[in-house]
Amino acid sequence: MCGIVGYIGTKEAYPILIKGLKRLEYRGYDSAGVAVFNGKINLYKHKGKIKELEKFVSAKDIGGTLGIGHTRWATHGEPNDTNAHPHRSMNDLFTLVHNGIIENYADLKKDLIKQGYKFNSDTDTEILVNLVEFFYTREDDIDAETAVRMALTKVVGAYGIAVLCSEEPGTLIAARKGSPLVIGIGSNEYFVASDAAPIVEYTNNVVYMNDYDVAVIKNNKFTLKNLQNNPMSLTIEQLDLNIGELDKGGFDHFMLKEIFEQPKTIEDTFRGRLNPAKSEIVLGGLLDVMPKLAAAERLIIISCGTSWHAGLIGEYLIEEYAKIPVEVEYASEFRYRKPVIRKGDIVLAISQSGETADTLAAVEMAKDAGATILGICNVTGSTLSRVTEAGVYTHAGAEIGVASTKAFSAQVTVLIMLALKLAYVKGEISDKDYKDLIEELAAIPEKLKTILDNNDHIRSIAEKYKDSVNALYLGRGYLFPVALEGALKLKEISYIHAEGYPAGEMKHGPIALIDNNLPVIVVAPQDDYYEKILSNIREVKARRGNVITIVTEGDEKLKELSDDVITIPRSHPVMTPLLTVIPLQLFSYHTALMRGCNVDQPRNLAKSVTVE
Ligand code: G6P
Repeated sequence: MCGIVGYIGTKEAYPILIKGLKRLEYRGYDSAGVAVFNGKINLYKHKGKIKELEKFVSAKDIGGTLGIGHTRWATHGEPNDTNAHPHRSMNDLFTLVHNGIIENYADLKKDLIKQGYKFNSDTDTEILVNLVEFFYTREDDIDAETAVRMALTKVVGAYGIAVLCSEEPGTLIAARKGSPLVIGIGSNEYFVASDAAPIVEYTNNVVYMNDYDVAVIKNNKFTLKNLQNNPMSLTIEQLDLNIGELDKGGFDHFMLKEIFEQPKTIEDTFRGRLNPAKSEIVLGGLLDVMPKLAAAERLIIISCGTSWHAGLIGEYLIEEYAKIPVEVEYASEFRYRKPVIRKGDIVLAISQSGETADTLAAVEMAKDAGATILGICNVTGSTLSRVTEAGVYTHAGAEIGVASTKAFSAQVTVLIMLALKLAYVKGEISDKDYKDLIEELAAIPEKLKTILDNNDHIRSIAEKYKDSVNALYLGRGYLFPVALEGALKLKEISYIHAEGYPAGEMKHGPIALIDNNLPVIVVAPQDDYYEKILSNIREVKARRGNVITIVTEGDEKLKELSDDVITIPRSHPVMTPLLTVIPLQLFSYHTALMRGCNVDQPRNLAKSVTVE
């Protein structure tokens, strides 16, 4: 949550900060601000998107080669100009941007008030910046970085911060605990950012900060220390990010671009791993742990949001094919509900960003209890990828739209490969089935293209139902999680209340909602559940519900029964989540657009939830 960017070097900082903030806007977009050092620290902040900030700043003094910026997703205090970052200390000595939550802010505030400090905003960040100033002014001969370190030792909670001191025009300080920060190293210039997106066009050399690291760039020299002032070793890594992924590539929205990218995404995910010619799946990142994984008595999948839906599909796949019992947990529940974790347990964390606070906390808890931690993650170098013992990158490329689309397909692709590989290693699948399923997966990208060709038809269905107040999504088996994902997509971006249900559960409650105003979207390709779901559809029709079905091509029976039909190519049931989710994503996209919603930046949401 929240995006931080900082620059120190020889170029003008402001354009770099603004461009960087736009790249980070998906992390939060309720207010934004910049502070640039030009003799003194000029500070500008404004409610709303970065565009509003730019308008506000025009014709003001924005010169200077050192600065910090922030785009906010509010935690403490409503989104307004005063609560926007950067925050400045009472005597103007420090200016700071912050991502995270200071949990003991109330105690710190009380102590600072006793010292005569006054506060303007409702934020925990203003307390932190004043705490830094308090230590700076209390001690003689103290520099800015020491004051920052002293303040941080008093803080309970999570932070990623970038700090300027008005008495040190050549210094940029950054520190991290819990909220990600990466330092970009250019030639005579340095960048600080919440992720690599603002950095990639200037340099590929980066250092991912770890918890309790403090980065100090002073007089063109970069050092990394811990809170006790001990030097930390610097590992410079190469960015694995293509700048082309960061723009819309001719599409109107990132979400649409990312939906349309999925044939390529899936290919990128299985490239080098799936080999139909040799009937082979190789998951390089899991080679060393494969024996342990195959011998596991149970597997616990933890994740949040869309990644949790992928995890549910993983459960069905791994239990059916590899015969390993699987539990799928919301990370936010798992971390607090005192679960039984045994030494031999394997925990598989799934996360697009690799920065979701609940997922990371659940991972730490399971690690402490002796579990082996594996990950499925999209962002290279993210915290999750560094705290897991082994794992698989999804290689979906940068996902910018807040509502996840291609990352889900990539996660499901990895889970299909994992389930099949485990089944093969354990001798639970015949050579023929293994070979056939590998070939089926390899054929999916082409099949997806034919579904994307139905975009106009899906738009016309969205037109019909765009004014609905509620929507119900139904599926069975692998397609129950797809129904959940379809409902989540619709509510996230169109603000229509939507529920996903296993179709068999409909009669235990949701059936009461059905009338001629309710669209019921049923994911019903021809699979083992076909006859069952057919009866569910009849039950909906008997109550005058509007039925939109996603069916296998050539299914005349369902065509007759449904109000609207979207077809997908015939495929093995294992592959149907990859095929059926696409029409649901497009349906949500068009509905949201017709309702005048901001599809890429839906209200109140953020892409990467780095706070609890
Ligand atoms: C947020 C995003 C979702 C995402 C979830 C989990 O809620 O808006 O799209 O599914 O976080 O994120 P992760 O990065 O861990 O997959």
